[in-house]
Amino acid sequence: MGTVIAFANQKGGVGKTTTAVNLGASIAESGPSVLLIDFDAQGNLSSSVGADRSAPGIYKVLSGEVAAVDAIQETPQPRMSIITGGADLTGASVELVNEERREYFLRDALKPVVDKFDFIFIDSPPSLGLLTLNAMVAANRVIVPLQCEYFALEGLTQLLQNIKRVQTSLNPDLELFGILFTMYDSRTRLANDVVQEVIGYFGKRVFRTIIPRNVRLSEAPSHGIPVNLYDPACVGARSYKKLSEEVLSRVKDQTAR
Ligand SMILES: Nc1ncnc2c1ncn2[C@@H]1O[C@H](COP(=O)(O)OP(=O)(O)OP(=O)(O)O)[C@@H](O)[C@H]1O
Ligand SMILES: [Mg+2]
Repeated sequence: MGTVIAFANQKGGVGKTTTAVNLGASIAESGPSVLLIDFDAQGNLSSSVGADRSAPGIYKVLSGEVAAVDAIQETPQPRMSIITGGADLTGASVELVNEERREYFLRDALKPVVDKFDFIFIDSPPSLGLLTLNAMVAANRVIVPLQCEYFALEGLTQLLQNIKRVQTSLNPDLELFGILFTMYDSRTRLANDVVQEVIGYFGKRVFRTIIPRNVRLSEAPSHGIPVNLYDPACVGARSYKKLSEEVLSRVKDQTAR
């Protein structure tokens, strides 16, 4: 089985989607294959790669109408594909509630494709609801993007408790892969304080790469391409490249163990 990473944080706008698309593109650029799953009704990840959102997406796969392989679309980044998400997912969380094995729908749906890709990235919505739970059950690692601000820490304890609960009851293979600082502004003292505090507490669980605030990262999605194709030299693209190297070397170390 490949490396299946869920991007999770119930706080909105912390960089989950931006990280999924740009880390994915940087990894694909260096060789491995990546499948993105847009597991958010907002469909931001799908738009970020200019995908056709009228074609069948992950909801149709969950409901069994379409096979996962038939929902895969190419993206502008070679070796990176996507299964789109969109508004129909809002219904999914309601419909699933009464199902037995409701936490396992995504895992089961992806089974036929997990071995076809080196990496599968699941972007989750800003909540700890059933969709995020499904993402954590389908994944073997979680990346938690964290904005460098005081309130960022408030939800973190709850999120980590949730990850633990999933580990003990639903998916023993799940690991906290790392906490990633995003939208960092070195000029603010608070950002530095937050980074130091989190590193002090979580140590090696924090990625050494920190993603700075960079306007190119917020512009790229409106062009439907990842930042490495939009402006490869910008600091945002370079940061995600560095993060991809860190992720690849961690995965290598962990498989060697
Ligand atoms: N490093 C960055 N520098 C500048 N802008 C950024 C950066 N990272 C993300 N953004 C912008 O911040 C906004 C929120 O980012 P993003 O959509 O990735 O967060 P999210 O956690 O996926 O949000 P949601 O919880 O709504 O799904 C977007 O407009 C995005 O373009
Ligand atoms: Mg998002």
